[in-house]
Amino acid sequence: MFAGWLMVETRPLVGITFMAVHLDQIVPWGRSRKEYELMFRLTAADLSRGVLDCGGGPASFAAEVSTSGYRAISADPIYAYSGTDIQARFEATLGSMMAQVLATPDDWTWSYHHDPANLLSNRRAALQTFLADYERGLSERRYVVSELPSLPFDSGSFGIAVCSHLLFLYSDLLSEDFHIASVRELCRVACEARIFPLLTLSGKPSPHVDAVRAAVTGDGLASEIVAVQYELQRGGNQMLRVFRI
Ligand SMILES: C[S@@+](CC[C@H](N)C(=O)[O-])C[C@H]1O[C@@H](n2cnc3c(N)ncnc32)[C@H](O)[C@@H]1O
Repeated sequence: MFAGWLMVETRPLVGITFMAVHLDQIVPWGRSRKEYELMFRLTAADLSRGVLDCGGGPASFAAEVSTSGYRAISADPIYAYSGTDIQARFEATLGSMMAQVLATPDDWTWSYHHDPANLLSNRRAALQTFLADYERGLSERRYVVSELPSLPFDSGSFGIAVCSHLLFLYSDLLSEDFHIASVRELCRVACEARIFPLLTLSGKPSPHVDAVRAAVTGDGLASEIVAVQYELQRGGNQMLRVFRI
Protein backbone atom coordinates (compact mmCIF):
# COMPACT_ATOMS: atom_id res chain seq x y z
CA MET A 1 0.00 0.00 0.00
CA PHE A 2 1.18 3.48 -0.81
CA ALA A 3 1.28 6.11 1.91
CA GLY A 4 3.55 8.78 0.59
CA TRP A 5 6.99 7.43 1.27
CA LEU A 6 8.77 4.19 0.61
CA MET A 7 11.66 1.87 1.24
CA VAL A 8 14.45 2.43 3.65
CA GLU A 9 17.59 0.56 4.47
CA THR A 10 17.53 -0.69 8.04
CA ARG A 11 20.57 -1.27 10.21
CA PRO A 12 21.09 -2.09 13.88
CA LEU A 13 22.48 0.41 16.38
CA VAL A 14 22.95 -0.68 19.98
CA GLY A 15 20.16 -3.19 19.58
CA ILE A 16 17.69 -0.78 17.99
CA THR A 17 16.89 -0.96 14.30
CA PHE A 18 16.90 2.45 12.69
CA MET A 19 16.81 3.72 9.15
CA ALA A 20 19.40 5.11 6.84
CA VAL A 21 17.48 7.41 4.54
CA HIS A 22 18.59 7.97 0.96
CA LEU A 23 16.66 10.25 -1.33
CA ASP A 24 16.43 7.68 -4.10
CA GLN A 25 14.51 5.43 -1.70
CA ILE A 26 12.02 8.10 -0.67
CA VAL A 27 8.76 9.22 -2.19
CA PRO A 28 8.62 12.78 -0.89
CA TRP A 29 4.88 13.37 -0.65
CA GLY A 30 3.88 15.70 2.17
CA ARG A 31 0.71 16.82 3.85
CA SER A 32 -0.73 20.27 4.52
CA ARG A 33 -1.48 22.26 7.68
CA LYS A 34 -5.18 21.44 7.32
CA GLU A 35 -4.41 17.72 7.16
CA TYR A 36 -2.14 17.98 10.22
CA GLU A 37 -4.81 19.88 12.14
CA LEU A 38 -7.29 17.10 11.38
CA MET A 39 -4.89 14.18 11.92
CA PHE A 40 -3.73 15.55 15.28
CA ARG A 41 -6.77 17.56 16.36
CA LEU A 42 -4.52 20.59 16.66
CA THR A 43 -6.07 23.77 18.03
CA ALA A 44 -4.71 27.31 18.10
CA ALA A 45 -3.90 26.72 21.78
CA ASP A 46 -1.88 23.62 20.82
CA LEU A 47 0.02 25.53 18.12
CA SER A 48 0.82 28.35 20.50
CA ARG A 49 2.77 25.89 22.70
CA GLY A 50 5.40 25.37 19.97
CA VAL A 51 5.36 22.30 17.73
CA LEU A 52 7.97 19.84 16.53
CA ASP A 53 7.05 18.03 13.29
CA CYS A 54 9.24 14.95 13.52
CA GLY A 55 9.67 13.22 10.16
CA GLY A 56 8.18 16.33 8.60
CA GLY A 57 9.66 15.67 5.16
CA PRO A 58 8.10 17.86 2.45
CA ALA A 59 4.93 18.58 4.44
CA SER A 60 3.79 22.21 4.29
CA PHE A 61 2.55 22.15 7.90
CA ALA A 62 5.55 23.93 9.43
CA ALA A 63 5.76 26.49 6.63
CA GLU A 64 2.09 27.33 6.94
CA VAL A 65 1.96 27.65 10.73
CA SER A 66 5.22 29.64 10.78
CA THR A 67 3.59 32.09 8.39
CA SER A 68 0.79 32.45 10.94
CA GLY A 69 3.32 33.38 13.62
CA TYR A 70 3.59 30.08 15.49
CA ARG A 71 6.90 28.39 16.33
CA ALA A 72 7.19 25.17 14.33
CA ILE A 73 10.36 23.16 13.73
CA SER A 74 10.62 20.19 11.35
CA ALA A 75 13.14 17.41 11.90
CA ASP A 76 13.96 14.95 9.12
CA PRO A 77 17.05 13.36 7.57
CA ILE A 78 15.96 14.43 4.07
CA TYR A 79 16.75 18.04 4.93
CA ALA A 80 20.33 17.13 4.04
CA TYR A 81 19.12 17.35 0.41
CA SER A 82 18.36 20.42 -1.68
CA GLY A 83 14.86 21.53 -2.61
CA THR A 84 15.69 20.86 -6.26
CA ASP A 85 16.64 17.27 -5.42
CA ILE A 86 13.48 16.74 -3.33
CA GLN A 87 11.26 18.13 -6.10
CA ALA A 88 12.98 16.02 -8.75
CA ARG A 89 12.39 12.95 -6.63
CA PHE A 90 8.69 13.84 -6.27
CA GLU A 91 8.31 14.13 -10.05
CA ALA A 92 10.23 10.90 -10.64
CA THR A 93 8.01 8.88 -8.33
CA LEU A 94 4.52 10.22 -8.83
CA GLY A 95 3.65 7.97 -11.78
CA SER A 96 4.28 4.75 -9.91
CA MET A 97 2.66 6.08 -6.75
CA MET A 98 -0.54 7.04 -8.52
CA ALA A 99 -0.57 3.65 -10.26
CA GLN A 100 -0.44 1.97 -6.84
CA VAL A 101 -3.34 4.07 -5.58
CA LEU A 102 -5.44 3.31 -8.66
CA ALA A 103 -4.65 -0.41 -8.38
CA THR A 104 -5.93 -0.63 -4.78
CA PRO A 105 -9.29 1.23 -4.77
CA ASP A 106 -10.61 -0.64 -1.73
CA ASP A 107 -7.74 0.60 0.44
CA TRP A 108 -8.71 4.28 0.37
CA THR A 109 -11.40 6.56 1.73
CA TRP A 110 -12.08 9.53 -0.52
CA SER A 111 -13.37 12.14 1.87
CA TYR A 112 -10.80 14.84 2.57
CA HIS A 113 -9.23 14.12 -0.82
CA HIS A 114 -12.08 13.77 -3.28
CA ASP A 115 -10.38 11.27 -5.59
CA PRO A 116 -6.88 10.22 -6.73
CA ALA A 117 -6.47 13.28 -8.97
CA ASN A 118 -7.37 15.55 -6.08
CA LEU A 119 -4.89 13.69 -3.84
CA LEU A 120 -2.11 14.34 -6.34
CA SER A 121 -3.09 17.97 -6.69
CA ASN A 122 -3.09 18.42 -2.90
CA ARG A 123 0.29 16.71 -2.54
CA ARG A 124 1.74 18.91 -5.28
CA ALA A 125 0.39 22.04 -3.57
CA ALA A 126 1.90 20.99 -0.22
CA LEU A 127 5.26 20.35 -1.87
CA GLN A 128 5.25 23.78 -3.53
CA THR A 129 4.44 25.51 -0.25
CA PHE A 130 7.21 23.55 1.48
CA LEU A 131 9.72 24.37 -1.27
CA ALA A 132 8.87 28.08 -1.20
CA ASP A 133 9.79 28.14 2.50
CA TYR A 134 12.64 25.61 2.49
CA GLU A 135 15.79 27.72 1.92
CA ARG A 136 14.71 30.39 4.35
CA GLY A 137 13.59 27.76 6.85
CA LEU A 138 16.95 26.00 6.66
CA SER A 139 18.79 29.26 7.34
CA GLU A 140 16.46 29.98 10.27
CA ARG A 141 17.02 26.44 11.62
CA ARG A 142 13.30 25.62 11.22
CA TYR A 143 14.24 22.58 9.13
CA VAL A 144 16.73 20.48 11.06
CA VAL A 145 18.60 17.47 9.69
CA SER A 146 18.05 14.81 12.33
CA GLU A 147 16.46 11.45 12.86
CA LEU A 148 14.77 9.39 15.50
CA PRO A 149 15.49 7.85 17.90
CA SER A 150 17.86 10.68 18.90
CA LEU A 151 16.98 14.34 18.38
CA PRO A 152 19.23 17.40 18.80
CA PHE A 153 16.84 19.37 21.02
CA ASP A 154 16.93 20.14 24.73
CA SER A 155 14.41 18.46 27.00
CA GLY A 156 11.07 20.23 27.06
CA SER A 157 11.81 22.35 23.98
CA PHE A 158 8.30 22.01 22.56
CA GLY A 159 4.74 21.88 23.78
CA ILE A 160 3.78 19.18 21.29
CA ALA A 161 5.70 16.82 18.99
CA VAL A 162 3.72 15.38 16.09
CA CYS A 163 4.80 12.46 13.95
CA SER A 164 2.81 11.79 10.77
CA HIS A 165 3.18 8.72 8.58
CA LEU A 166 6.42 7.36 10.03
CA LEU A 167 6.02 5.59 13.38
CA PHE A 168 3.48 2.72 13.34
CA LEU A 169 3.01 3.04 9.56
CA TYR A 170 6.38 1.38 8.94
CA SER A 171 5.97 -1.26 11.62
CA ASP A 172 7.25 -3.95 9.27
CA LEU A 173 10.57 -2.10 8.92
CA LEU A 174 10.96 -0.48 12.32
CA SER A 175 11.25 -2.63 15.43
CA GLU A 176 9.28 -2.42 18.64
CA ASP A 177 12.44 -1.18 20.40
CA PHE A 178 12.82 1.58 17.80
CA HIS A 179 9.23 2.66 18.35
CA ILE A 180 9.58 2.74 22.14
CA ALA A 181 12.88 4.65 22.01
CA SER A 182 11.44 7.09 19.48
CA VAL A 183 8.28 7.87 21.46
CA ARG A 184 10.37 8.31 24.61
CA GLU A 185 12.56 10.75 22.69
CA LEU A 186 9.54 12.69 21.42
CA CYS A 187 8.29 12.91 25.01
CA ARG A 188 11.71 14.06 26.20
CA VAL A 189 11.82 17.03 23.81
CA ALA A 190 8.08 17.86 24.07
CA CYS A 191 5.45 17.84 26.81
CA GLU A 192 3.21 15.73 24.62
CA ALA A 193 3.54 13.50 21.52
CA ARG A 194 0.86 12.75 18.93
CA ILE A 195 1.31 10.05 16.32
CA PHE A 196 -0.83 9.28 13.24
CA PRO A 197 -1.82 6.84 11.80
CA LEU A 198 -1.91 3.70 13.94
CA LEU A 199 -2.12 1.46 10.86
CA THR A 200 0.70 -0.17 8.95
CA LEU A 201 1.32 0.24 5.24
CA SER A 202 -0.86 -2.80 4.62
CA GLY A 203 -3.74 -1.15 6.49
CA LYS A 204 -3.56 -3.40 9.57
CA PRO A 205 -3.37 -2.13 13.17
CA SER A 206 0.29 -1.64 14.11
CA PRO A 207 1.59 -4.40 16.39
CA HIS A 208 3.70 -1.81 18.26
CA VAL A 209 0.97 0.42 19.68
CA ASP A 210 0.34 -1.66 22.81
CA ALA A 211 4.06 -2.08 23.56
CA VAL A 212 4.65 1.67 23.24
CA ARG A 213 1.72 2.42 25.52
CA ALA A 214 2.95 -0.06 28.14
CA ALA A 215 6.49 1.37 28.02
CA VAL A 216 5.41 4.99 28.46
CA THR A 217 3.08 4.02 31.30
CA GLY A 218 6.15 2.61 33.04
CA ASP A 219 7.82 6.00 32.55
CA GLY A 220 4.98 7.71 34.39
CA LEU A 221 3.34 9.05 31.22
CA ALA A 222 -0.26 8.58 30.16
CA SER A 223 -1.58 7.72 26.71
CA GLU A 224 -4.88 7.60 24.89
CA ILE A 225 -6.12 6.65 21.44
CA VAL A 226 -8.14 9.48 19.97
CA ALA A 227 -10.55 9.38 17.02
CA VAL A 228 -9.86 12.08 14.41
CA GLN A 229 -11.74 13.60 11.49
CA TYR A 230 -9.22 12.54 8.84
CA GLU A 231 -9.06 9.31 6.92
CA LEU A 232 -7.23 8.34 3.72
CA GLN A 233 -6.07 4.81 4.46
CA ARG A 234 -9.37 3.04 4.99
CA GLY A 235 -9.91 2.70 8.75
CA GLY A 236 -6.99 4.99 9.57
CA ASN A 237 -8.77 7.64 11.64
CA GLN A 238 -7.08 7.38 15.03
CA MET A 239 -4.01 8.95 16.61
CA LEU A 240 -2.02 8.07 19.72
CA ARG A 241 -1.55 10.84 22.26
CA VAL A 242 1.17 10.45 24.93
CA PHE A 243 1.35 13.06 27.65
CA ARG A 244 2.64 13.89 31.11
CA ILE A 245 0.18 13.30 33.90
C1 LIG B 1 5.76 9.43 4.68
S1 LIG B 1 6.90 10.73 4.99
C2 LIG B 1 5.81 11.75 5.94
C3 LIG B 1 6.14 13.20 5.79
C4 LIG B 1 5.24 14.11 6.64
N1 LIG B 1 5.32 13.78 8.04
C5 LIG B 1 3.81 14.05 6.20
O1 LIG B 1 3.02 13.35 6.82
O2 LIG B 1 3.47 14.66 5.18
C6 LIG B 1 8.00 10.05 6.23
C7 LIG B 1 9.18 10.95 6.54
O3 LIG B 1 9.93 10.36 7.59
C8 LIG B 1 11.28 10.69 7.39
N2 LIG B 1 12.12 9.80 8.19
C9 LIG B 1 12.61 8.59 7.87
N3 LIG B 1 13.33 8.09 8.89
C10 LIG B 1 13.28 9.01 9.89
C11 LIG B 1 13.82 9.06 11.21
N4 LIG B 1 14.53 8.03 11.73
N5 LIG B 1 13.56 10.15 11.97
C12 LIG B 1 12.82 11.17 11.47
N6 LIG B 1 12.32 11.18 10.22
C13 LIG B 1 12.52 10.10 9.44
C14 LIG B 1 11.45 10.53 5.89
O4 LIG B 1 12.59 11.18 5.40
C15 LIG B 1 10.16 11.14 5.38
O5 LIG B 1 10.30 12.50 5.08
